[in-house]
Amino acid sequence: MKNSTRRAFLSRVTVGLTGAIAAIVGLPILGYLLAPLFQVPSDDLVKVGLVTDFPLGKTKLVSIRDPSPLPWAGQTAETALWVRRRQADGPQMFQVFNVNCTHLGCPINWQAEAKIFLCPCHGGVFYEDGTVAGGPPPRPLYEREWAVRAGDLLVRQAALPNPKQG
Ligand code: FES
Repeated sequence: MKNSTRRAFLSRVTVGLTGAIAAIVGLPILGYLLAPLFQVPSDDLVKVGLVTDFPLGKTKLVSIRDPSPLPWAGQTAETALWVRRRQADGPQMFQVFNVNCTHLGCPINWQAEAKIFLCPCHGGVFYEDGTVAGGPPPRPLYEREWAVRAGDLLVRQAALPNPKQG
């Protein structure tokens, strides 16, 4: 192979590899920048169960689909809420909490005997009303707006709050 032919071949290989690397690095960045254009509107009330599914004085976990998942979010769009039935009826009947800790977002667990939420990540503790009992969480649990219609408990969808933004 002549020198000039070899040089031309290596130049083409270099250009091709540079293009491939640019695509590998650039496509995720492009996807991140364009993602807001593909988000699903998320201000609806969604049914999470019948009012009778939630006994008075109990706190129960319900599944819900993330309100603003990207079309390709798949399994990662599935999340959960803690529903606390605190009164038989009226405007104080329920409290609905995001499942995520307000420190760094780990899913919290309800301890029915102690009536507290525990975060397994760094030991955050919340009282049953969502206020902070101890540990690193900087604020109470995030609450969701809810409504009762025709015996159904509906919860307002909301994007996952960013703990850094309060
Ligand atoms: S994420 Fe819950 S205490 Fe850190």
